Amino acid sequence: MSAPLRLGIAGLGTVGIGVVKIIQSHADLLAARCGRPVQITAVCARDRHRNRDADLSGYAWADSATDLARRDDVDVFVELIGGEEGVARDATLIALESGKDVVTANKAMLAMHGQALAERAEELGRALRFEAAVAGGIPVIKTLTESLAGNSIRRVMGVMNGTCNYILTRMQSAGLPYDTVFEEARQLGYLEADPTLDVGGIDASHKLAILAAIAFGTRPAFDGVEIEGIERVSIDDINRAADMGYRIKLLGVAQMTARGLEQRMSPCLVPCDSPLGQLEGGTNMVVIEGDAVGQLVLRGPGAGEGPTASAVLSDIVEIARGVRLPVFGQPATGLQSAHPARTAVPAAYYLRLTLADKPGALAKVATVLGDAGISIDRMRQYCHSSGDAPVLIVTHKTTPDAIDFAIAALPRTGVIVGEPVELRIEEV
Ligand code: HSE
Repeated sequence: MSAPLRLGIAGLGTVGIGVVKIIQSHADLLAARCGRPVQITAVCARDRHRNRDADLSGYAWADSATDLARRDDVDVFVELIGGEEGVARDATLIALESGKDVVTANKAMLAMHGQALAERAEELGRALRFEAAVAGGIPVIKTLTESLAGNSIRRVMGVMNGTCNYILTRMQSAGLPYDTVFEEARQLGYLEADPTLDVGGIDASHKLAILAAIAFGTRPAFDGVEIEGIERVSIDDINRAADMGYRIKLLGVAQMTARGLEQRMSPCLVPCDSPLGQLEGGTNMVVIEGDAVGQLVLRGPGAGEGPTASAVLSDIVEIARGVRLPVFGQPATGLQSAHPARTAVPAAYYLRLTLADKPGALAKVATVLGDAGISIDRMRQYCHSSGDAPVLIVTHKTTPDAIDFAIAALPRTGVIVGEPVELRIEEV
């Protein structure tokens, strides 16, 4: 058997400890699959004395991640610290410069600095792998990079933030408002330290930008993602959408168009009976459409100790086997700059309006929609006791520009009460 692959693990939080446990409990299995033992030689964490649910006595402790990244007894630097800048990025660069391969779960770092890191890793002949960065335990990076390498990818979409999916499905099943469920999620420890990363759609957009880079051969372009979080999704919309046969999901969609790369992360309606519509709780789902394969649906746990550590191990095993792949599936210097395009692909839209209940109100709304070139597919007016009438409209396919035009014109009718709500209905 060949020499052991020696790991230095930086970060001993949930994922880091998960990796330690798998390496300890599956040592023989990993050695057989890699053709060499996989060993941890050194670790580091902010707090060395914290009580952790794993035996770390056999490992050297480095004083810092950057020290760990420089150690001679480390072949692979496993970066599980997180954060777009700072020590995670510094230590990753030091590890590469010191001749080590790197495995990371850090989606923010890859979305923001992936291009520079990939170019440096490839220049130095080192591996930089990141299966755990997107959709936790779902092997979506390897699926796109390897299994679908023979496809031109048409579209990648998915629910890639488990916390948001938990909040939206819990609102639906319990009939609770957003604020109450947000607080529940906080109590359960589901939210990131900065919750806007989750509910603001940023975490999921980091993941989308990484997938788009691999899918379309473009430089990761987080700045090109049109982002809207779930903060404005109300229980009313969840209930009304259900009434019309839809669920609301924080959905990421990336597709290459003649005008450029569309990347959007926003609350969307999807049919209740579609795979995305049936996705419950903290689970993630990624849908990939390739010209040869058609549509693939990958579903699984998007976070947590075991699933994320499982993904980290898949990269470690790849490196142990001597496999070297370009970071984003093709040489980084050849990746095109993605020209960001505002969403223009037509879709049906859900509109929820509150109208003053007086003669001609509906006719005025229909005129505005007609003037914008928008055709109504379905419409429902709900029972009401007050003077205002809640109205729900599902349009035929139309463009985002037409919707914006109509939304801007609606207040001028003088019959709209409050803010209209518009949500895109994504075809799955
Ligand atoms: N906060 C993330 C989620 C964890 O809820 O999916 C994984 O990025």
